[in-house]
Amino acid sequence: MTQRTLVLLKPDTVRRGLVGEVLSRFEAKGLSIVAMRHQHIDAALADQHYAEHVERDFYPPLRDFVTSGPLVALVLEGDEAIEVVRALNGATDGRKAAPGTIRGDLSLSNRENLVHGSDSPESAAREIALWFADL
Ligand code: PPS
Repeated sequence: MTQRTLVLLKPDTVRRGLVGEVLSRFEAKGLSIVAMRHQHIDAALADQHYAEHVERDFYPPLRDFVTSGPLVALVLEGDEAIEVVRALNGATDGRKAAPGTIRGDLSLSNRENLVHGSDSPESAAREIALWFADL
């Protein structure tokens, strides 16, 4: 089933010069980029994006991090794209993520973990509408 999913290449990906490396993994897998934007977001958009986490203890530093510099937001499309992207991303904590995944190969953190991928079809629809209202 063809799906679309919202992906963020978080500010650590941009700062570390890993945008090409991470994008190439998604493209090599066969996913298509249907929208992409380089953007420095404010706290209001961060709060909307992470609406389900805003009351969590870890959220304030997460908000500081995602607003700390530009990120790249994109929509990827392909067969089972939501689950495929999350598998490519790897477990949330880069220290525990499996080798071969983006986080497992490139991150040592559960905050600075390079990428975000929508976690369900409902989340994907909400996040794509939030970030790319014109799609
Ligand atoms: S949960 O508890 O399963 O709903 O949360 P999880 O999917 O693991 O994480 C949701 C997002 O919160 C980030 N996260 C953190 N940020 C900072 N500090 C800590 N301790 C922390 N734990 C989780 C995590 O990277 C997820 O971000 P996204 O962008 O959704 O991948």
